[in-house]
Amino acid sequence: MKALLTLGIFLLSVTVQAKVYERCEFARILKNNGMAGYAGISLASWVCLAKHESGYNTQSTTYHSESNSSHYGIFQINSQYGCDDGKTPRAVNACGIPCNALLQDNITQAIQCVKKVAKDPQGIQGCNCDA
Ligand SMILES: *[C@@H]1O[C@H](CO)[C@@H](O)[C@H](O)[C@H]1NC(C)=O
Ligand SMILES: *[C@@H]1O[C@H](CO)[C@@H](O)[C@H](O)[C@H]1NC(C)=O
Repeated sequence: MKALLTLGIFLLSVTVQAKVYERCEFARILKNNGMAGYAGISLASWVCLAKHESGYNTQSTTYHSESNSSHYGIFQINSQYGCDDGKTPRAVNACGIPCNALLQDNITQAIQCVKKVAKDPQGIQGCNCDA
């Protein structure tokens, strides 16, 4: 019981700290940053991609054991290619930033980075939301 309570408080504090964007607010920020049609990807697909990747949660991180890399932030940018987390083998760091910068409430840097990554076919997986 005590453990459950502790877990509950822990989850609550995580929820409070993470910025989870509301869909329309997120779409508006993307649009203001020139993301509509960027790299041939529609605004709707960018929004869909972020929903699929992170649920619009800026603090989302996931570890991928097959490449020993992690994915960071609202766009789940890969530490193998996009950013530097100091522990990923053969990392490229195309955006020239620490991966933590992708977890901020302010998603300006995450958008700049995903733009760089989107230009490279290695960088971003397709999103089937238009289909
Ligand atoms: C991941 O890390 C493990 C342990 O350090 C290592 O044995 C393995 O070869 C690594 N895999 C890749 C793809 O780098
Ligand atoms: C987010 O950060 C950028 C610079 O990195 C700044 O220009 C912008 O005003 C910030 N936005 C908010 C909402 O604080």
